[in-house]
Amino acid sequence: MSAIFKNYARYPLTFVKGEGARLTDDTGRVFLDFGCGISVVNLGHCHPKVTEAIQKQAETLIHTSNLYHIPVQEQLADRLSRCGFGGDVFFCNSGMEANEAALKLARIYGNKKYDGKRLRVITFENSFHGRSFMTLSATGQDKIKKGYEPVADFFTHIQMNDFAGFVNEAKKGDVIALMIEAVQGEGGLAPIDREFLVNASDYCAKNDILLIMDEIQTGFGRTGDIFAYKHFGVTPDIITLAKGIANGVPMGAMMARPDIAEYMSAGTHGTTFGGNYLACAAAMAVLDVMTERGFMQEVREKGDYFKTRMEEIFYQTEVTVLGIGMMTGIKVPGKQKDFINKAIENGLLTVPAGNDVIRIYPPLTASYEELDEGLGLLEKTARELEIGGF
Ligand SMILES: Cc1ncc(COP(=O)(O)O)c(C=O)c1O
Repeated sequence: MSAIFKNYARYPLTFVKGEGARLTDDTGRVFLDFGCGISVVNLGHCHPKVTEAIQKQAETLIHTSNLYHIPVQEQLADRLSRCGFGGDVFFCNSGMEANEAALKLARIYGNKKYDGKRLRVITFENSFHGRSFMTLSATGQDKIKKGYEPVADFFTHIQMNDFAGFVNEAKKGDVIALMIEAVQGEGGLAPIDREFLVNASDYCAKNDILLIMDEIQTGFGRTGDIFAYKHFGVTPDIITLAKGIANGVPMGAMMARPDIAEYMSAGTHGTTFGGNYLACAAAMAVLDVMTERGFMQEVREKGDYFKTRMEEIFYQTEVTVLGIGMMTGIKVPGKQKDFINKAIENGLLTVPAGNDVIRIYPPLTASYEELDEGLGLLEKTARELEIGGF
């Protein structure tokens, strides 16, 4: 029995090597990985450009701390800012830290600008924003909070896409931010409604409520654009990033409108590792690949192909196909666990999500042949479980 903490329920699998869309386990069996480490290795395992950048950086300089200037951090911030909405960027090490930073920024903004009278944050039911005390309080799922009560009490969860409910809360006058995912990842691939987002964005802008979009799972190409908010023609005030940002090297980031970012002046927030040389070098390589001409177009085309083929496979079955871009999945009522385990038996890795959903996240770099192989394994799995019309 290992001394390791028992807080994860792990599959009985141990991987020793990764290459592109494939993982090899300790018995030599090769699996197709359509989970990507929960949307982290979006460029596939050990992408040569990322590996090269990490190797080169590891030989030169790994960490100095934020006591000093870090040129590659500044360059990365500039590039992310250009990919986004021209915001300033703070670097940290995980998604929950990025959200923690966004919530602290909203608090300090509300405290300084509104004399502490605006501090409530609205989030969606069924959302997921992390597992720190503050981000689990923001999360709209009781199971994440269970055992950790009392949680922070300045969050109000509204039903996803309920604009009237949002306005109702906002009118109380103490709301500083609306924090939302464009597609709920952990929550089961529920998409935001365009009308809600456009109206909410407009309302937030008019009433100085900060629109925080949690792009931790949706970002870095997963939905077919660098950030999911871009599909909707809105501009958030703050976005939070992590997962795919450095293709597996731990990193998180928050981008905020410069006039809001200003409220976090020197000494008001920080983290030891955030934006060190190694993580930044990996993230620069990720951006090199993702901003190549035609890359996102190809992701969108592959995503459309993949989803259409899944819809064909599961046509007239009890399975519903969900998602946008390469952030796809299926809802398999009552058979989530069985399906995932059977898929593993068949050599395909997928990821569970709330409400009977299975996330199917191929690497954005997967070839059409690999997508077809995965589709074949999904079909085989469904047939073996006697799902629907097979
Ligand atoms: C939307 C969203 N926000 C926040 C987080 C938390 O990120 P991390 O696990 O890196 O702390 C996740 C992780 O799954 C996520 O999907």
